[in-house]
Amino acid sequence: MKYKSQKVAYWFFALSMLLLTLQIIYGFIMAFAHMGYDVLHVITPFNTARAVHTNLLVVWLLSGFMGAAYYIIPEEAENELVSVKLAYIQLISLAAVGVIAIVGYHFNYWEGRKFLEIPRPLDWLVVVNVLTFLGIILMTLFKGKKRTTTSLVLTMGLVFAALLYLPGMIWFDNQTMDSFFRWWVVHLWVEGVWELIMGGILAFLLIKITGVDREVIEKWLYVIVGLTFISGILGTGHHYYYIGVGKIWLVIGGVFSALEPLAFLGMALFAVSMYRKGEKKHPNKIALSWTLGTAIVSFLGAGLLGLAHTMPGVNMYTHGTLVTAMHGHLAFWGAYGMIVLAFISYSMPNLTGRKLYDTQSGILAFWLSNIGMIGMTAAFGVAGVAQVYLERKVGLEFGDVQKEIQVHFAVLATCATLFTTGIGYYIYEFIKYGTPNDEALESLTKINI
Ligand code: HEM
Ligand code: HEM
Ligand SMILES: [Fe+2]
Repeated sequence: MKYKSQKVAYWFFALSMLLLTLQIIYGFIMAFAHMGYDVLHVITPFNTARAVHTNLLVVWLLSGFMGAAYYIIPEEAENELVSVKLAYIQLISLAAVGVIAIVGYHFNYWEGRKFLEIPRPLDWLVVVNVLTFLGIILMTLFKGKKRTTTSLVLTMGLVFAALLYLPGMIWFDNQTMDSFFRWWVVHLWVEGVWELIMGGILAFLLIKITGVDREVIEKWLYVIVGLTFISGILGTGHHYYYIGVGKIWLVIGGVFSALEPLAFLGMALFAVSMYRKGEKKHPNKIALSWTLGTAIVSFLGAGLLGLAHTMPGVNMYTHGTLVTAMHGHLAFWGAYGMIVLAFISYSMPNLTGRKLYDTQSGILAFWLSNIGMIGMTAAFGVAGVAQVYLERKVGLEFGDVQKEIQVHFAVLATCATLFTTGIGYYIYEFIKYGTPNDEALESLTKINI
């Protein structure tokens, strides 16, 4: 840590860890419901649990991104954050919107639009929150000494993510129109601008951890931004196949979304080759594992498992089934969950001055969570393929099929327990680090990491 104001990042990470824990609890509620033990149905029916699970996911990731930005921007721009007080207010209001939304879902105060369940009046609070956040980031950058490619790509990702939230707030009476614009938020976030956020954070981590020249790393970043835009924008078409728009989208969606894995492949090659080129002197090996891990697992989960159901002929059968959940888990985990955890692992020793680099629990956290998540992905995949076959080939009823595939959720719950143990270790490490302090400032400036 080189700037005092970077400390605010810690509290965003703490919120992130809290929401991740809650997300996992709701995941288990659904896993048990799938096994036939829907015991909490009266308080938390499946649809509520699902909306809470996915919305908590989005908020813990956003909180992680915001924390990362509050850490990265001062260091890259060589300037303290313009207002730390406002950043704390923004943190509290982010937590407040999250709590209101989640409590509201339990009382049916929600919109049944997957991922965008937050009711429109609350959306305005989100807008105010994000504008405050962007204001602080942009002013810090504007008043800073430097504007590096890494900080600009990260900021561009954050600004575009905010703008793309708006199409989801327009009201349509028409289902097709609503669906069309819902994807501008959901798809263009995860397969567009969030990739820029990921690329920016990844570049920062690689610069710090591998010691490779910034010029080399930032050249790669341009290639990744290029590949993301070329494939991701028109790749939105893979959600337009059968929603009631023109047939041209079958071709556009098929062709461009098939190119999307290239951006993730680029990210994986980028990270691995920078690691091989680097000096391998940085002591924080756990942060390195998470950094290489995010680049590789995102290619598997988003790139390969995305490709697995992106062709119109396949998607006609797999759409909206557990095949989608299979891909959704590994993609979100690999690309965005792991980049947030990578950043927290990198920044905690710097924020607190405590150098718990290679502890047993840190290593267990990495392996157990990843092996657990890969197992969960496999369980969803097997359940999904069985579901597609029985429901859409054989023609059984939805509910009857769900009974047939209950056993796969016992496997899912087992792997999820492994995953949760890993996350438990991660959070244990996080707590062990303690809170940030100013002594950490000097020690780091001296050795420059
Ligand atoms: C990190 C990046 C990605 C994440 C986090 C992600 C996550 C998700 C999620 C959560 C869904 C379900 C959305 C919903 O129904 O509302 C979904 C759907 C889908 N994704 Fe991805 N995805 C990513 C990248 C990709 C890529 C690169 C491809 C293609 C190569 C792809 C192909 C698809 C397809 C075809 C669907 C529609 C599934 C259906 O019809 O039910 N995804 N993705
Ligand atoms: C203990 C851990 C977890 C369990 C047991 C779990 C379980 C589940 C279940 C049962 C569903 C609903 C599937 C359906 O619609 O029938 C679901 C949805 C979802 N979960 Fe998890 N989950 C866990 C952790 C996570 C994590 C860590 C992430 C992201 C990093 C995640 C991302 C998602 C997403 C994106 C969906 C929506 C998928 C779709 O659109 O089809 N989950 N989860
Ligand atoms: Fe998509």
